[in-house]
Amino acid sequence: MTTGNNQSRVTVIVGAQWGDEGKGKITDFFAGDSDYVVRYHGGNNAGHTVIVNGNIFKLHLIPSGVLYSRPVSIIGNGTVIDPDALIKELDELEKRGVKLNLKISYRAHVIMPYHIAVDEGLTGYQGALAAGSTKRGIAPVYADKMYRHGIRMIDLLEPEIFHEKLEKSYGFNVNLVNNVLGVEFDKPLDDIYLDYLKFGQRLQPYLADTELALAQAHAAGKQILFEGAQGLSLDVDHGIYPHTTSSNMTAGHIAAGAGITLRSIDRIIGIAKAYVSRVGISPFPTELDESEAKALRDKGGEYGTTTGRPRRVGWLDLVQLRQAVRVHGLTELTLTKLDVLSGFDELPVCVAYEARGQRLEEVPASLDLYREAKPVYQNYTGWENLSVAQINRILKTGFTGLPQAMRNYIQFIEDALECPISIISLGPERHQTIVR
Ligand code: GDP
Ligand code: IMO
Ligand code: MG
Repeated sequence: MTTGNNQSRVTVIVGAQWGDEGKGKITDFFAGDSDYVVRYHGGNNAGHTVIVNGNIFKLHLIPSGVLYSRPVSIIGNGTVIDPDALIKELDELEKRGVKLNLKISYRAHVIMPYHIAVDEGLTGYQGALAAGSTKRGIAPVYADKMYRHGIRMIDLLEPEIFHEKLEKSYGFNVNLVNNVLGVEFDKPLDDIYLDYLKFGQRLQPYLADTELALAQAHAAGKQILFEGAQGLSLDVDHGIYPHTTSSNMTAGHIAAGAGITLRSIDRIIGIAKAYVSRVGISPFPTELDESEAKALRDKGGEYGTTTGRPRRVGWLDLVQLRQAVRVHGLTELTLTKLDVLSGFDELPVCVAYEARGQRLEEVPASLDLYREAKPVYQNYTGWENLSVAQINRILKTGFTGLPQAMRNYIQFIEDALECPISIISLGPERHQTIVR
């Protein structure tokens, strides 16, 4: 893909699995050379960890470029914003000395307290078909957007239209909460109205027509980096529906979620862990049973950034990644947490599924078939546990310094997916990264 006749480079970073692949770390790694770092979907269901010189930052809605002074952070129109949670995130960053250069789209939708109550009720209502949501109000706010009685950030600056919209949205959702989902919600409309007008005033300096700003930046040759949240298996269209989130994180969604032309994209970098983790509910073909899972979970620190829930873990799944390469249109992959995957004699890699006597090379649309999918494994020789000193040596040498068995593992994945693995991550710190 080309950028036309200017020097702008547009890079999109997206999750290739079930989220938590290390998108935050890799976004931060690239952000220092970017003029804009942009979130284009999702909300504070996301949790992105960035670690620089031992300082740990847990970001939820603020893009993971915020630690640099150069880029403008943009929260695009396709995101959904809990203003209370966002203000807490901003305050916390400012307290730690981070200077904010932030713009928030007027058009982003607002998560209201009753959306969180609906989300609480939905998990019980949906039972075995629930996704195990983060209870941040994500599905209900996107539902309101589609019903077209949603509230947008700009409405918080316009008291009359805000009240008019709030009456519709509040009436609908409170009825749903109390009478369908059976959850208590008794916060009066006027209290919410006053609280949210205050949130609007607090966030007003950041609100802007970010779609226009990005188009102008692109035309002026600026470097723009998009940070996806979640991962393709959680995409509401392409993921394991209904065990998904409620937005699209496919790279192509930057047009809808940030208002920039698709003709602008140069690089689409998929982030994949060297194994798989899943927080929440869905079938998970390569999941390890609990006796094996605990060691990998603890070694990899696999506990949710947003909810603290223990993440389920399993072997690398190439069927899942094949779909991610295809649907995102990846130009390359980053493989993270290879340091965590060390110390195993054998590494099983899932190359296909088997269900009802059929071999499946692709993720099936049928949930029923997916529930029955059993992994077909090809075994790879593992590599020894890597000490900190060994990792530091490898980081100095680069790709050729990796253990031969790790290089074989990487080569196999690359060949099987027909997608280059251009970046290797060997630790959570910004500098623990190898570009090939
Ligand atoms: P995201 O949601 O995709 O941004 O990922 P999270 O930040 O939720 O989860 C990834 C976790 O792995 C975080 O705790 C990161 O600090 C950590 N991490 C990222 N890359 C690596 C790596 O290569 N090795 C290790 N050991 N940890 C990593
Ligand atoms: P990052 O950006 C992992 C999962 C939830 C649940 C489903 C729906 O950190 O990779 P939601 O609250 O969105 O309605 O939950 O999606 N989920 C995530 N899992 N990482 C995330 O984000 C996630 N965001 C949502 O666990 O299964
Ligand atoms: Mg995460």
